[in-house]
Amino acid sequence: MEYSNGIKKLPPYVFVDLDRKKKAAIAAGRDIINLGIGDPDKPTPKSIIRYFKKCVDKPENHQYPIGRGTTTFRQSVVDWMKKRFNVVITPAEVECLIGAKDGITHLPLAFLNPGDIVLVPDPGYPGYTSGTYLAGGETYVMPLEAKNKFLPDLEAIPEEIYNKVKIMWLNYPNNPTSAMADRKFYEKVISYAKKYDFIAAQDAPYSEIYFGKPPMSILEIEGAKEHVVEFYSMSKTFNMTGWRIGFAVGGEKIINGLAAVKENMDSGTFTAIQDVAGWALLNCDREAAKIRRLYKRRAGVFTKGLRKLGYEVLKSQGTLYLWVRVPGSMKSMDFCSMVLDKGDMVVTPGIGFGKYADGYFRIALTVDEPLIHKALDRFAKLKI
Ligand SMILES: Cc1ncc(COP(=O)(O)O)c(C=O)c1O
Repeated sequence: MEYSNGIKKLPPYVFVDLDRKKKAAIAAGRDIINLGIGDPDKPTPKSIIRYFKKCVDKPENHQYPIGRGTTTFRQSVVDWMKKRFNVVITPAEVECLIGAKDGITHLPLAFLNPGDIVLVPDPGYPGYTSGTYLAGGETYVMPLEAKNKFLPDLEAIPEEIYNKVKIMWLNYPNNPTSAMADRKFYEKVISYAKKYDFIAAQDAPYSEIYFGKPPMSILEIEGAKEHVVEFYSMSKTFNMTGWRIGFAVGGEKIINGLAAVKENMDSGTFTAIQDVAGWALLNCDREAAKIRRLYKRRAGVFTKGLRKLGYEVLKSQGTLYLWVRVPGSMKSMDFCSMVLDKGDMVVTPGIGFGKYADGYFRIALTVDEPLIHKALDRFAKLKI
């Protein structure tokens, strides 16, 4: 029995060794500080849980949710897009998702034929590549480099590649670099998307985790909608990673394509979760601001401490992460292994996000301040 070509092409899971070491260290009773995973340590806000309890009591919420999302949920997204970005869309331009990952990995199935190309950022979320391969497409890597403020160099992509491109993945605020993109960049993206007729797909689960000016939506650019889809998520905005809900917004044709794939793959998100998510988008700005402040504070404390120790830490502009240069000439995997062996800390090697990221490692800001100080003491003892 043979696996499909798509499965065979899936990139190897580079964290296997590190993961094994981490599990062994924990099993051996070592006091490991986990700065690896981007999963919020705080619970979902109490107001959201309270509202959910009411939604779950409604029998009409207990049947198959089926379809693109309830009318109420999609209208809440429409209202949120207007409130947050001053962008006007219709419910037909919204699709409820089982988290942003659902939309990211299924979008290529709606638009790729063999030989079509998807532009993926490096470093980047692995779902852009795996979704492409599983749909039978090819990827072309767009390096994100410090010299370009971690934006892809659109001029560097050859014309013969652009001619085959169906989707360009973007992710701002960016995981893992925490970089932001500006209007000028998005305008350029849209001009290329129109010229070569591709989809500019913005993965924006960190849209509400920003430490300065709120990031914009690409849909704010006039005339962009036909070529844009954006993926938002409740996961990080409201500490709701386990609830599995997000949404896609964008051109109706793109949303229709994604919906056609999903209609044949899943039966939607629990209606009670859609109800509470729609309500939270419109009623929980204070809770979102509190979460934002928490990460901003942690980012500040951690950055200051690491810089004092001589680490080169990029100024964090948002997300749950710090992006730090691996000191000396070590490879990121070797450095992270050493941090685990000698420092009892889990941090993520850049290589896990792509070959252009091997000079960096990522720290997740998902531990409280006393633990950040403890981690800094451990970094200090590593004597880099
Ligand atoms: C860049 C990026 N995209 C997508 C996701 C998936 O988000 P969701 O929980 O909404 O599926 C994550 C989760 O960490 C992420 O970092």
